[in-house]
Amino acid sequence: MNSYLKVDHVSKSFTRGTVVTEVLKDISLDIGKGEFVSIIGHSGCGKSTLLNLIAGLTKVSDGGVLLENREVDEPGPERAVVFQNHSLLPWLTVYENVKLAVDKVFRESRSRAERHDWIMQNLALVQMQHAKDKRPAEISGGMKQRVGLARALAMEPKILLLDEPFGALDALTRAHLQDSVMDIHARLGNTMVMITHDVDEAVLLSDRVVMMTNGPAAKIGEILEVNLARPRRRLELVADRSYVQYRESVLKFLYERHRFVEAA
Ligand SMILES: Nc1ncnc2c1ncn2[C@@H]1O[C@H](COP(=O)(O)OP(=O)(O)O)[C@@H](O)[C@H]1O
Ligand SMILES: [Mg+2]
Repeated sequence: MNSYLKVDHVSKSFTRGTVVTEVLKDISLDIGKGEFVSIIGHSGCGKSTLLNLIAGLTKVSDGGVLLENREVDEPGPERAVVFQNHSLLPWLTVYENVKLAVDKVFRESRSRAERHDWIMQNLALVQMQHAKDKRPAEISGGMKQRVGLARALAMEPKILLLDEPFGALDALTRAHLQDSVMDIHARLGNTMVMITHDVDEAVLLSDRVVMMTNGPAAKIGEILEVNLARPRRRLELVADRSYVQYRESVLKFLYERHRFVEAA
């Protein structure tokens, strides 16, 4: 596989005073262009740490992250992140929140009219044009995540990083957003890396599910290839034999082989 994003023998430790915590140990992962990869693991195993390393928000302790053969060591618009809790600016409207990102990336290369069209196009992609003049406090949690997604997509990132983007939403809203993300992925063919702890979400959306062992010094335990035809429809998949088997193998990894032990 051509590796578009390469996580190459990455380890990460945090040092606080004299205490060193080894969070990730020797993680290697190659992701192809246009691939949808989920990373699943128990709480605290180091998923967000891994995503932050790919985003360039944190520096590796050892190894390297390469995007198109170029080393990642700082944040950049070609690696946009959507977090679990939307990070919209409360005093700006939906439109202005997306505009901020668009202006930052395209101020030089696109005219004002082109930027306006591009903002509207991205709001349309997440079905949020109707709420363009609302402020974050006036819209629901699901809508805020949609705007966060539009803002990330509007930067035309090479890779979209999603850190439990639907984790704080109720089940129905989450299902709607998952469908939107699948639809966007099908239309735009972006490369996406999503952190989740939801087994159904991982199997439904991904080409591959990367399963992490528990920390400290978490590693990649197994990688599951999900060979289900797209477009995928959740209702049809519920009874699909392969879907059920994929789901079972992730569940077995998480709840039999790498059971979560809550710290005392
Ligand atoms: N900035 C930091 N300083 C010290 N420890 C950290 C820092 N960030 C994360 N950790 C530790 O790394 C571990 C993994 O955290 P995290 O990546 O957030 O896990 P996950 O996203 O899988 O729930 C946790 O034990 C956490 O306390
Ligand atoms: Mg996390």
